[in-house]
Amino acid sequence: MKKYKVAVVGATGVVGKEITDTLYQRKFPVDSIKLLASKNSVGQCLPFGNDEIDVEELVETSFNDVDYALFSAGGSISEKFCPFAVKSGAVCIDNTSHFRMVDGVPLVVPEVNPESAFSHKGIIANPNCSTAQLVLPLKVLHDHYGIERIVVSTYQSVSGAGKEGITELEQQSRANLSGQDIPPSVFQHHIAYNVIPQIDVFQDNGYTKEEMKMINETKKILNDDSIKMTATTVRVPVFVGHSESVNVQLKSAFKLDDVRQLMSDMSGVTVQDDPANSVYPTPRDSAGKDDVFVGRFRHDLSIENGLEFWCVSDNLRKGAALNAVQIAETLINV
Ligand SMILES: NC(=O)c1ccc[n+]([C@@H]2O[C@H](COP(=O)([O-])OP(=O)(O)OC[C@H]3O[C@@H](n4cnc5c(N)ncnc54)[C@H](OP(=O)(O)O)[C@@H]3O)[C@@H](O)[C@H]2O)c1
Repeated sequence: MKKYKVAVVGATGVVGKEITDTLYQRKFPVDSIKLLASKNSVGQCLPFGNDEIDVEELVETSFNDVDYALFSAGGSISEKFCPFAVKSGAVCIDNTSHFRMVDGVPLVVPEVNPESAFSHKGIIANPNCSTAQLVLPLKVLHDHYGIERIVVSTYQSVSGAGKEGITELEQQSRANLSGQDIPPSVFQHHIAYNVIPQIDVFQDNGYTKEEMKMINETKKILNDDSIKMTATTVRVPVFVGHSESVNVQLKSAFKLDDVRQLMSDMSGVTVQDDPANSVYPTPRDSAGKDDVFVGRFRHDLSIENGLEFWCVSDNLRKGAALNAVQIAETLINV
């Protein structure tokens, strides 16, 4: 089997570590792996299976001889370094938002639009974590009933804001319980014992950047600009796992049992829906798992053809690392 030279950019971050683990766990055919981060991390060693790999500083020449470069070091790093990687002949799979909405850059979730990956010109974008999990159940609904309108509210974990987000929740929670106070620095308000209806910055239209990312990326992945969509994105004091309350108005009538069956048949989706026994997805149960979990299916009593459901997934896996590795797998499995 052919093996590939892989670089992980942002390898010391929460997504980068998950990418390295995922490559190993899924037995991606790795010939060699480069772990790249800022110069502050030089001197660190990180595991790749049983091997210890030295972290190297990301520089313009890091990509000589690299086949696949998986980026998760922030938008400005991707903006600067993806072109060097492409010039060296590598294919970039980018977890940041920088290239997602650029014309000609495919935005890919392999269960939904794998064919788009093959139109790349060196860069393939990975969607925002809250979009990645959402488009799997939406794809099922759109294919079978057609989607008229989507209303989504998210409950997003602090790991979505990287390692510093995790540290802030940990430290504030401990401090709070011992009667001390640590003021917010990563989030706009205290995240411990709180809920913050703001992720990223506000735009002129009153939506946050995160909300507009969800709306625009969903339409691009489902390849349908006619879908009406609105979103409210909220940060909650959960370490890993994003939850979403999803309301979808479909174009035709549906039966709940059919919807459950169609979701069960979708690769990457697991139905957990037995409300009488309090069975439904929670972020705690989804952490460390690959699938998107859906449940609490019910008719929206207020509109025709309205469907309500709850959708949970590990934001570091399907929302980032797993999806990125699946894109690379899609390309090599041609
Ligand atoms: N967290 C999620 O759920 C999620 C989901 C989807 C997409 N993303 C995107 O993935 C990216 C990384 O997120 P994260 O959550 O993993 O953040 P993180 O935990 O803060 O990690 C950031 C990584 O970027 C590296 N980095 C920062 N500045 C650098 C520089 N100048 N040169 C080289 N490397 C540099 C850091 O290296 P040092 O340790 O050396 O500073 C670290 O490895 C972001 O663009 C984010 O939007 C995140």
